Amino acid sequence: MGELSFIFKDNYDKNNLVGVNGDASCLICKEKDFESLIEIMPKGTVGYIYTIQTNLVEFSYILEGIIEFIDNQETIILKAGDIYFHHSLNQNHMFRVIEDARVLNLNTGPYYSSYEEDENHLMTVLENLQKVDGDTLNHCIRVRRLCLGITYFLREGFEQLDDLYFAAIFHDVGKAKIPPEILMKPGKLTTEEYEIMKEHSRYTYEMIKERYGETIAEIAFQHHEKLDGTGYPRGLKENEICLLARVIAVADAYDAMVVTRPYHVGKSIQDAIKELRRCQDTQFDSKVITALESYLRTLD
Ligand SMILES: [Fe+2]
Repeated sequence: MGELSFIFKDNYDKNNLVGVNGDASCLICKEKDFESLIEIMPKGTVGYIYTIQTNLVEFSYILEGIIEFIDNQETIILKAGDIYFHHSLNQNHMFRVIEDARVLNLNTGPYYSSYEEDENHLMTVLENLQKVDGDTLNHCIRVRRLCLGITYFLREGFEQLDDLYFAAIFHDVGKAKIPPEILMKPGKLTTEEYEIMKEHSRYTYEMIKERYGETIAEIAFQHHEKLDGTGYPRGLKENEICLLARVIAVADAYDAMVVTRPYHVGKSIQDAIKELRRCQDTQFDSKVITALESYLRTLD
């Protein structure tokens, strides 16, 4: 394994998101074990670079692949040899991997540690739920991925990506308080059982609020509300349901339809989209469904 020697020289414009091709020669990496700094991002990966209020700097150097960024509603294509970095950004920037990418990330300090610590708290609850029902954690991970993909194509909600990040993964964490015999019941729930099941939204709200605050808790609280007011637990209507809850609702329903479980054969992508469209404007936001379709097309 060779040693990469990369660090920026002084003349980069740190207010600029994007470095130009050929900047690799301006970097020195003192890490000998640079393989551990390389992130593999398969085609279709959607993520974001978030604003950070410390002096930490992260540079990312694209070794292979093509990544598309949204910068003020415009798209910028970066490829091998280009760089991007977190520093002095005044807004979150989303990206999408167009061709399988390998990216070398260089940090001046531990970058994601606070995210990871935050996530660990309720992640243990999801891991325990997974042992009971065999899918909740995986479902939540898929839903978060879908939510980021949808948001990318919506071109809205970027300022709340951190809120979405946590609300999406923990939207069903309240199921931990539902009796397993109801959670795992293979057939149709009785009216009484369904009422108990519906309580998971409120449990989710309470559990998230305690650790992550009101804003994130409120987004997750609304994920079973419907535009026509027939959802639960509060029967909110249209704009009373926040955009990010409408995003989670579509991702959640889509994933539940396409996944195959012991008692459920997954629908095809086309049939699931057809079902979402059948419920658009009554249950789901049509522009969110359109964004989901755009995202799914990029995964072909
Ligand atoms: Fe749910």
